[in-house]
Amino acid sequence: MISSTTKICCLIGNPVNHSLSPQLHNACYNYLGLDYVYLAFKVTNLKKAIDGLKELGIKGISVTIPHKEEVIKYVDEIDEVAKDIGAVNTIISKNGKLIARNTDWLAALGALEKVTALKNKKVALIGAGGAAKAILYGLVKSGANVYIFNRTFNNAEELGKKYNIKNIYKLSQSRLIKDCDIVINSTSVGMYPEINRSPIPKKFLSSNQLVFDIVYSPLKTQLIRDAQSSGATTITGDRMLIYACFQFELFTGIKAPVDIMESILLKYLK
Ligand code: ATR
Repeated sequence: MISSTTKICCLIGNPVNHSLSPQLHNACYNYLGLDYVYLAFKVTNLKKAIDGLKELGIKGISVTIPHKEEVIKYVDEIDEVAKDIGAVNTIISKNGKLIARNTDWLAALGALEKVTALKNKKVALIGAGGAAKAILYGLVKSGANVYIFNRTFNNAEELGKKYNIKNIYKLSQSRLIKDCDIVINSTSVGMYPEINRSPIPKKFLSSNQLVFDIVYSPLKTQLIRDAQSSGATTITGDRMLIYACFQFELFTGIKAPVDIMESILLKYLK
């Protein structure tokens, strides 16, 4: 029952209609009987939105595309990791202050390390945007040997510079992906409605590889379908979503019921 004491958490982004975060968080609140509610707001004027959410005492904010980088300007504090990554996906309100963090890198690492160790693996990271920043932070931390491929070379170069990565390529040079152990798509290519697009040609995929697509709408993207028919091991985007549990825990201070999250993903994605 929503009342005057109900604590409010929310997602801010644009668009937000496709997001499963409200279902994931609210199902967990209901299951645990917490006096919380989670909403999704389409935000265009980020500063106004953040000021308003702060004034209203919103407990926790999930941040998604396209606000993950700009939001840094409007928070009171940012932890070292989010600062290093240069992007924020989680904001917690504490004593009237907004504190920014990044849990995306943990989510990506969690999904990958469930399947394989990353140390010294040759990893092709496709993309150089906000999602790539967080994933790259995790990959570097775990000792992977990263190759960045991006449509716009300069963006990849800018990102790679930070971690002294020498292997930077334009996406049109993706044949080099053939020699990589792990392939990660961090771009939105293949996302609904362009479900038949893949960031790379199928001929560069093989059964020796692990292919991870962060896109989860649809779950079986063209890249995942190509990887599966090439005999590669695959990780679909929902495996990253399950780490919404980190945000849940930061917002409520309570361990997330991961089984409930799994059942929500199953209900909405399979
Ligand atoms: P996010 O925060 O989700 O990572 P972003 O910061 O806009 O979103 O980054 C999008 C990434 O997807 C970028 O690497 C972008 O490539 P550019 O640097 O060339 O812009 C990549 N991307 C988006 N659309 C693409 C497309 N149609 N083909 C190839 N890459 C694309």
